[in-house]
Amino acid sequence: MFTIQNHLEKRNGHLIIAGVDTTNLTQEFGTPLYVTNEQRIRDNFNTYQKAFSHADLYYAAKANYNLTIMRILAQEGAGADVFSDGELYMALLAGIPGDRILFNGNSKTDRELAMAVETGVRISVDSLDELHALSRIASSGQKTVDIAFRVNPDVSPKTHPKISTGLKTSKFGIPHQDVVAAYKEAVELPGINPIGMHCHIGSQILDTSPFSEAINRMMDLVEQVTRLGVELEFLDLGSGLGIPYKKGEMVPTPQDLADIVLPIFNKRSQAIGIKLKLIIEPGRYIVGDTTILLTTVNTVKTAIKKFVGVDAGFNLLIRPAMYDSYHHVVVANKVDAKVSGIYTVVGPICETGDILASDRELPVVVKDDIIAILDVGAYGFSMSSQYNGRPRCTELLVNNGQVDVIRKGEDFDDLMMNQIVPSRFL
Ligand code: LLP
Repeated sequence: MFTIQNHLEKRNGHLIIAGVDTTNLTQEFGTPLYVTNEQRIRDNFNTYQKAFSHADLYYAAKANYNLTIMRILAQEGAGADVFSDGELYMALLAGIPGDRILFNGNSKTDRELAMAVETGVRISVDSLDELHALSRIASSGQKTVDIAFRVNPDVSPKTHPKISTGLKTSKFGIPHQDVVAAYKEAVELPGINPIGMHCHIGSQILDTSPFSEAINRMMDLVEQVTRLGVELEFLDLGSGLGIPYKKGEMVPTPQDLADIVLPIFNKRSQAIGIKLKLIIEPGRYIVGDTTILLTTVNTVKTAIKKFVGVDAGFNLLIRPAMYDSYHHVVVANKVDAKVSGIYTVVGPICETGDILASDRELPVVVKDDIIAILDVGAYGFSMSSQYNGRPRCTELLVNNGQVDVIRKGEDFDDLMMNQIVPSRFL
């Protein structure tokens, strides 16, 4: 048995995940098919936790909010970063305690704020308008809510512009130069207890220098806010650590990140004379490489390129179309076969941009082969849609040879769900 990538292996020319032959899975469950390795989630979480042994890890639910996957992370001791009332609902259902959940979001509704107050979670406040609404909602229910402010630190994460969140032009957070004034205001407001500070500079970051810039800027603000007399209990540095989507790509590990962030955090906390809890909100690192998407070849066509038409498209994996993201692909039933040419793997969606993998070296590909798209656990299924009238596919969890369905595939009834045809059209 040889390792293909991380936890993926090959046996008799077939791709194996968690001891299970992927071609058996496609025969039993059909395609498209999302398959997640349970142990890999636990291992990734523990690797991260080991690097940041004194920090709290709040899993970013947006990356993958399958309930079973969130339960696994709850078992491992994760808190959660949630970005909507729906994500909050799911995190609580997964068993993540309310006092280990941070409700983030740049445009929360009053209903979301009320739910956050009701469930006792902490809130990362993104604007003064939100602060005022929250004070009204909390104090009218005789409640006090623990908050952080989301800071826009104006740091370039050197990643794709669509996933850069801490630039001064970004919609997220309060500009860093206005943050001290926001705390001054917050301490005076009824129902508001400012105890934290939060930022998040971006995602798929492949260099540690933006993180050191961010932690320094945040500690400057912590110092100023502490001098005001605000007793901060936590600093949430968000997340953003990238993963190696390309074979052989060198990327920083959680330990590399910890080696940059922790000395600055510890030294500066000590100098200020406070004991802060550090929170990190990893999503991609925890689940990204745990999952593959298996898809069947419907057609192979030679035109200007060799196009391999498969049964999954950007309805099930939008990252390549949206961010030009690279996902490695292998032919799951021919992992030992020699490279024979350059192929472009495309989905069945009626859009020219529905390309999953451009110009890849693959063995001879023919109809009914199975293509595995790797590293789709983060922002894969969670960003899926039913576009073009395509029901979403089945999700499986595999562990040590065991296979469980963790979401059944949708059918045509799901396409019609909640649609109401007024009686005059019947
Ligand atoms: N915390 C906050 C406040 C966030 O906005 C995010 C991600 C995270 C944590 C988790 O970051 P991560 O560890 O996953 O880098 N759909 C895009 C990624 C969007 C990320 C949005 N925020 C993609 O597929 O690349």
